[in-house]
Amino acid sequence: MQEKFSQILLNAKQDVEKIDNSKDLYDLKTRYLGKNGEITALLRGMKDVAPEQRSAFGKMINDLKVEVEKTFDDKDQMLKQNELNQRLQNEAVDVTLPGNAPAMGSIHPLNIVKNKIINAFCGMGFEVFEGPEIDSDYYCFQALNIPKDHPARDMQDTFYITENFLLRPHTSPGQVRTMENKKPPIKILSPGRVYRADDDASHSPMFHQIEGLVVDKGVSLCDLKGLLDEFVRIIFDKDTKTRFRPSYFPFTEPSVEVDVSCCKCHGKGCNLCKGTGWIEILGAGVVNKKVLEMSGIDSNEYSGLAFGLGIERITMIKYGISNIKTLFESNINFLNQFNRR
Ligand code: DAH
Repeated sequence: MQEKFSQILLNAKQDVEKIDNSKDLYDLKTRYLGKNGEITALLRGMKDVAPEQRSAFGKMINDLKVEVEKTFDDKDQMLKQNELNQRLQNEAVDVTLPGNAPAMGSIHPLNIVKNKIINAFCGMGFEVFEGPEIDSDYYCFQALNIPKDHPARDMQDTFYITENFLLRPHTSPGQVRTMENKKPPIKILSPGRVYRADDDASHSPMFHQIEGLVVDKGVSLCDLKGLLDEFVRIIFDKDTKTRFRPSYFPFTEPSVEVDVSCCKCHGKGCNLCKGTGWIEILGAGVVNKKVLEMSGIDSNEYSGLAFGLGIERITMIKYGISNIKTLFESNINFLNQFNRR
């Protein structure tokens, strides 16, 4: 009997030896130790053994079973280790290879310029106030001294939503909303999108403006000149000069249009400034007393100055862009030029 058991153990060891994967090992184990396995059959045969030999026989089967199980467990561990090693090898990553650098985005030129402008004025004590893009006739026009049916409305080809509500054609309503809510001294910038039925190489139905407003005691056109001189030096370069030309806006009196000396030819005359040496950049003036009064500010005590500029226009001048549409086309080659990496 002992011999038979030794043979079984030997067979099991030889069979296990030949196995090279976990699944075959499992099948083989079932053949020896499963419900209908060889060793299980031996255990079942116990009932036919004479009672006095049963205990010794039982011990022998048990020893055999333990040995066979150990053979399988050892092999199982070995296979698992091999499989793990194989996997580690297959999935190995060479950390010394150069990586794939992700494409980096960049700030849009309009935002670069907008941020520069805001920073320049914030350095001079201005705060930012953003108004709504859909605004009422009152805020867009009437409170800015442009009554209904006044010809000055033709200066802006407006998109009306209803008779009383419109896509704001300028950021000037920001002045009114601020004055209604804030006591002087006031120093604000109101940036945002504006809309006009206008479409050519230098105009777009949607564009961006920044409105500026200062209200305080004794504010004059001289302060406006000083403020804008400082501003253009920061935005263009330190030698940039400003020039005021008389103009007309219903909400300012007097009104001016402001030119800067051409940043390309420095006043000599070139294609950018159309040979004049000067480029118009914004409208401005001393706030009309009527506008102050309509917003509840005593015009005998306070005076104001205001200006409004187009961000696209300044961006186009600064970077020599000839068609405004380039700023909205999302052409990656164009935008990558502003990537400062
Ligand atoms: N709102 C004017 C426009 O859109 C720009 C402007 C001109 C704003 C003169 C002002 C100003 O505050 O004083 O054309």
